[in-house]
Amino acid sequence: MADLTSNLAGIVSPNPFWLASAPPTNSGYQVQRAFEAGWGGAVWKTLGEPIINSTSRFAAVSFNGQRVAGFNNIELISDRPLDVNLREIEETKKRFPDHAIIASLMVEPKQEKWHEIVKKVEAVGVDGLELNFGCPHGMAERGMGAASGQVPALVESQTYWVKEVAQTPVIVKLTPNITDITATAEAAVSGGADAISLINTINSLASVDIHTWNTVPNVDGLGTHGGYCGPAVKPIALHMLGECARNDLVTVPISGIGGISNWQNVVEFMLMGSTTIQVCTAAMHHGFRIVEDMIDGLSNYLDEKGIESVSELIGRSVPKYSDWGNVNLNHQVVARIQTDTCINCNKCQIACEDTAHQCISRYKDASGASYLAVNEEECVGCNLCSIVCPVEGAIEMVPIANGLPTLSWNDRQHAINTLQTSSYMGGK
Ligand SMILES: Cc1cc2nc3c(=O)[nH]c(=O)nc-3n(C[C@H](O)[C@H](O)[C@H](O)COP(=O)(O)O)c2cc1C
Ligand code: SF4
Ligand code: SF4
Repeated sequence: MADLTSNLAGIVSPNPFWLASAPPTNSGYQVQRAFEAGWGGAVWKTLGEPIINSTSRFAAVSFNGQRVAGFNNIELISDRPLDVNLREIEETKKRFPDHAIIASLMVEPKQEKWHEIVKKVEAVGVDGLELNFGCPHGMAERGMGAASGQVPALVESQTYWVKEVAQTPVIVKLTPNITDITATAEAAVSGGADAISLINTINSLASVDIHTWNTVPNVDGLGTHGGYCGPAVKPIALHMLGECARNDLVTVPISGIGGISNWQNVVEFMLMGSTTIQVCTAAMHHGFRIVEDMIDGLSNYLDEKGIESVSELIGRSVPKYSDWGNVNLNHQVVARIQTDTCINCNKCQIACEDTAHQCISRYKDASGASYLAVNEEECVGCNLCSIVCPVEGAIEMVPIANGLPTLSWNDRQHAINTLQTSSYMGGK
């Protein structure tokens, strides 16, 4: 069996599966039960000034029968007293010395406030700190969370203040509510961060009740923007992870978060550069035991691939993630319909006819049976027909050998510029 031991900037855990800072990590009771279930680490629900929460505070987006496709909350940081949390962290660490306990922290952007809380939580034996510069609601209105996390200079200075006193590794958790997440990732590194984690939740409004006209959730009739997470945010998280992982200035390891629900998602995040992964919504939806499938799935996958340690997986897809300017514009694929598996539902024809390139037509064979075929001369290989097709494998996207050399936009521009320069030189 492959070795799942993980090491994120010196924080060692028996496997890469951590619970994200959120309701599942709100108490010693929960974190201890999670460790018993198999989770390798937990980022404790964010500690900070005493907070009063609202009721209600959660909403979910269900789509086409899928419950909790997306999840939205207006919850704040821990509303349990700091000394209670610290006592429970200490007890939990003593019971589970080999598991990773990371304290998530959020205070006002003041040096002495950061020094004070870092010293307090490190005194109870945490393995690391995670700075919450991501919470988009409530705290942000008081200059904390995303209000700090959207300003690279504030991320850098507060990370620096923490590093002035921290004895354990410091992870900076980033907000996705920013145009370019690499700006704050780079700022965290400049401030001395040992690792970064991403993403926190995305600004959102889950829904509006069309009968009462209230937004959902609402507190006594008044709603506010909340943070979005769960399966729906996974593509956004993966993109931001990839942007950070391929950035030369982001030289620290990454803990990936956002919509991770199963072992396949875990593999994707690790291939895209995550050293550990964190889960919140899937644990809230299905309970702690989902980690069993994640452990089994990841172990089997590594064994099947002949990979001995999970660390060998990290970042393997990053070199395959680039700018559009580098993709081969001469590469060609076309759609090909497999008539033996096609159920003649016509969805592909409608999609191509109405919204793509009008190149799927219906024909009759020698026996008079009707079938669909693609005019490959006209097909631009956009994938739409295969995406809408309800039958796995009924439409294959087939590469076509067109004899053209590899040519990207950047190659093309380079060739044009070189030509212009040489003809200019020749003309002289
Ligand atoms: C109800 C709720 C409360 C959360 N509270 C915190 C928090 O206190 N600190 C924090 O850093 N992130 C908090 N988060 C964000 C999660 O840690 C995580 O970044 C986000 O949910 C994305 O992961 P997911 O898609 O697996 O849920 C919270 C998320 C939810 C749903
Ligand atoms: S790949 Fe796009 S263009 Fe080609 S047949 Fe399918 S929908 Fe039409
Ligand atoms: S969508 Fe798929 S199953 Fe339906 S007609 Fe097209 S190829 Fe056949």
